[in-house]
Amino acid sequence: MSKIKVCIFDLDGVVVDTAKYHFIAWKRLASELGFEFTALDNERLKGVSRMDSLNILLEIGKKTYDEETKIKFAAMKNNWYVEYITRMDESEILPGVKDFMLLLKKENIKIALGSVSKNAMSILNRINLTEYFDSIIDGTKVSNAKPDPEVFLNAAKELKVIPEECVVFEDAVSGIQAAINANMPSVGIGSPEILTKANKVVAGFVGMDLSILEF
Ligand code: G6P
Ligand code: MG
Repeated sequence: MSKIKVCIFDLDGVVVDTAKYHFIAWKRLASELGFEFTALDNERLKGVSRMDSLNILLEIGKKTYDEETKIKFAAMKNNWYVEYITRMDESEILPGVKDFMLLLKKENIKIALGSVSKNAMSILNRINLTEYFDSIIDGTKVSNAKPDPEVFLNAAKELKVIPEECVVFEDAVSGIQAAINANMPSVGIGSPEILTKANKVVAGFVGMDLSILEF
């Protein structure tokens, strides 16, 4: 029997494929600033806060700007991103996610969201998934982005469990590191070549059963 009481889901790239919208929006900014931004570069931005992402992007493009300009760029990126996500609906929930969540509910395992996105609530509402979560920790509730464990530790605290009773589902290298820093086992969603530090890595949720919670 697994001792897991809570499953903590990252949002972007785990529950929905918004990672692609973040990528398109950052790529658009890079192109306006006159440099290329690749999918491989984008791996460094996954799970990272908006301003930290911008700083990494500008480092890649070898550009320096003052704080005021950077805030303007971050707002531009977010406006484009919001434009993309307002067109989302339930059909964008990644395959197998809802079935797995229903399985967890049947077993009385709690479901939490652990995302540093400030747009998380608006996405969950758009895809009609808000009510599936027993706890929602998003970018409006934490001050430290992943790999800091704050977002996951807050979820554990809110649901009154210890970190070892949680498992984190993550698509980002920084998110897997945050799980390690939180002392929680992790399931990487994506490629084992990228998510090298995850306890397990799967391509997605289709066909997932409770054996995934055995470590
Ligand atoms: C998630 C995504 C990141 C994004 C961050 C902040 O962690 O993986 O790519 O930068 O959230 O998102 P926000 O919606 O607040 O800009
Ligand atoms: Mg993610």
